Amino acid sequence: MHHLMAKDHRKLSDFLSKLNTKAFNGQSQGDMFKCINDFIRLVEEHFEKEEKVMNNIDYPQMLEHIKEHARLLDQLKTMKNQLNKGQTPFGDECMSWLKDWFYQHMTHADKKLDDFLLEHMDNEKVL
Ligand SMILES: [Fe+2]
Ligand SMILES: [Fe+2]
Repeated sequence: MHHLMAKDHRKLSDFLSKLNTKAFNGQSQGDMFKCINDFIRLVEEHFEKEEKVMNNIDYPQMLEHIKEHARLLDQLKTMKNQLNKGQTPFGDECMSWLKDWFYQHMTHADKKLDDFLLEHMDNEKVL
């Protein structure tokens, strides 16, 4: 895997594990809300980075990938708002939704980008 993806994806995945631990150690909904906010910030930074890279290398599936990022962020923010309004308590359901949300994108759209990077790019030049 390209080092950009590997490092960021590990960070995001670690954050989700942390969230998981917190959720099952009786953190308040307010604390969970703050964590989700931090997670959203990390995701935004990561998406921006990927989008910059795609733009730099004229990645053929860039628009499609960017659209998916926008959709994913939108879903994440909707989830955050529901948490904030107390409509959804943070629990098993939220956690598995988040994991799916993350792994689906990583194993499909990001995997394609990663393959393209590895095939066409010199690691040091792109990033
Ligand atoms: Fe990614
Ligand atoms: Fe992505």
